[in-house]
Amino acid sequence: MPAAPAALVILAAGQGTRMNSDLPKVLHKVAGAPLLVHAMRAGAALAPERTVIVAGHGAEAVAKVARDWDEGAEVVIQAEQKGTGHAVAQALPALEGFRGKVVVLYGDTPFVRAETLETMLSVAADVVVLGFRSDPATRYGRLILAEDGALERIVEYKDATGAERAVTLMNSGVLCADAALLADLVGGLTNDNAAGEYYLTDVVGAARARGLGARTVTCPEAETLGVNSRADLAAAEAAFQAAARSGAMSDGVTLTAPETVFFGFDTVVGRDSIIGPNVIFGPGVTVESEAEIRGFCHLEGCHISRGASVGPFARLRPGAELAEDVHVGNFVEIKNAILDEGVKVGHLTYLGDAHVGERTNIGAGTVTCNFDGVMKHRTEIGADAFIGSDTMLVAPVTIGAGAMTGSGSVITRDVPDGALALGRAVQVTKPGLAAKLFEKFRAAKERRRKEAE
Ligand code: UD1
Ligand code: CA
Repeated sequence: MPAAPAALVILAAGQGTRMNSDLPKVLHKVAGAPLLVHAMRAGAALAPERTVIVAGHGAEAVAKVARDWDEGAEVVIQAEQKGTGHAVAQALPALEGFRGKVVVLYGDTPFVRAETLETMLSVAADVVVLGFRSDPATRYGRLILAEDGALERIVEYKDATGAERAVTLMNSGVLCADAALLADLVGGLTNDNAAGEYYLTDVVGAARARGLGARTVTCPEAETLGVNSRADLAAAEAAFQAAARSGAMSDGVTLTAPETVFFGFDTVVGRDSIIGPNVIFGPGVTVESEAEIRGFCHLEGCHISRGASVGPFARLRPGAELAEDVHVGNFVEIKNAILDEGVKVGHLTYLGDAHVGERTNIGAGTVTCNFDGVMKHRTEIGADAFIGSDTMLVAPVTIGAGAMTGSGSVITRDVPDGALALGRAVQVTKPGLAAKLFEKFRAAKERRRKEAE
């Protein structure tokens, strides 16, 4: 954590024309989280005293996402997009009274690492800009250095001369400066350039003109990947997944077929867990160590404890909590349900709004009937119970510890501890009747065949 206080400004007002979308660009998702949330997460690592989001296009939706993620985030509106410098100017009133460094991030640049931002804060210069090396064919702003390696100015591609375009040190857009200085420099910007915009990048030249110092910090190009189109979004997803897969493997997780596993932005998997092929992690999944997720599982908002095994073909939805050594088998769906240690749910089952006690066995085809068409209701099952195959548990209902339900039962009333509940029609057996019926049906079929001849 940096010693000096920091504030964060994230620019997210742009329309993102090239996305060809009604959704504001920064709300398009990578690994299940809006681009804006990725930027906010990176910035949050600086423990900023203030976070200001500059919104414009789709401001209401952008503000909601920002506040859902960080209650303390302040959202300011840039009604007209007159450039990145103008956007930062809109954030200044929200920084009133703040003393310390301001880090400016772009909401469409999701992969900047917290460590890189920390490095920027640690550099002793009036203005610090994050740069990266790339191909001269790209249209980024160019970082022009002085002989001594200091940053002289930034020139936008549109405004650059041939010689300047040949420079391969690019502007990522991430910039850091003392709050009072930034306010001063932004206040002096003009829009006398090819785009007719107030460029934030011009603060570097302005600082140098006052005899102040500017420096660069560089990072790999992958960190500064900006999303401007759907193709960029897909490239960002691919880059995220590639990094998440190799990250998981170096953390000691076995991925049987890494290229088929998709992680969420916040997935956590413990050491010596095994993830089979075609497993999809939505947001909010934590898996402890030594668990096994077999092929074709879909998981979101759930917790899987040590030693548990899930799948193949299981779906864990938000609020599914599996204690140690729980086994969830194929074609099982679990939502908002706690399964205590050693519970077994092997096959074809839906458990929703439920609690299942230790070591209980849930038979194939069991359904917690949790929805009455209007409201959701809970099912409570005690420890060491046995739920027979194809039991319908009509909630609200409680099954006691050590209780049993007979296969095919529809259970509508509570079952006390140790009791057996049967809720199904009594079996009737008619000796010889099947044989007679077969004979009759076959004869009918034969008659029909002859008639058709
Ligand atoms: C900007 C930089 C360029 C850099 C590139 C890196 C400037 C002038 N140029 O160019 O040097 O190489 O990023 O990706 O800063 N935004 C607003 N309000 C505005 C304009 C932009 O909030 O009025 C936001 C956008 O939503 C976006 C970010 O600022 O999140 C960057 O704007 P964009 O127009 O994409 O800048 P670039 O042309 O990519
Ligand atoms: Ca951009």
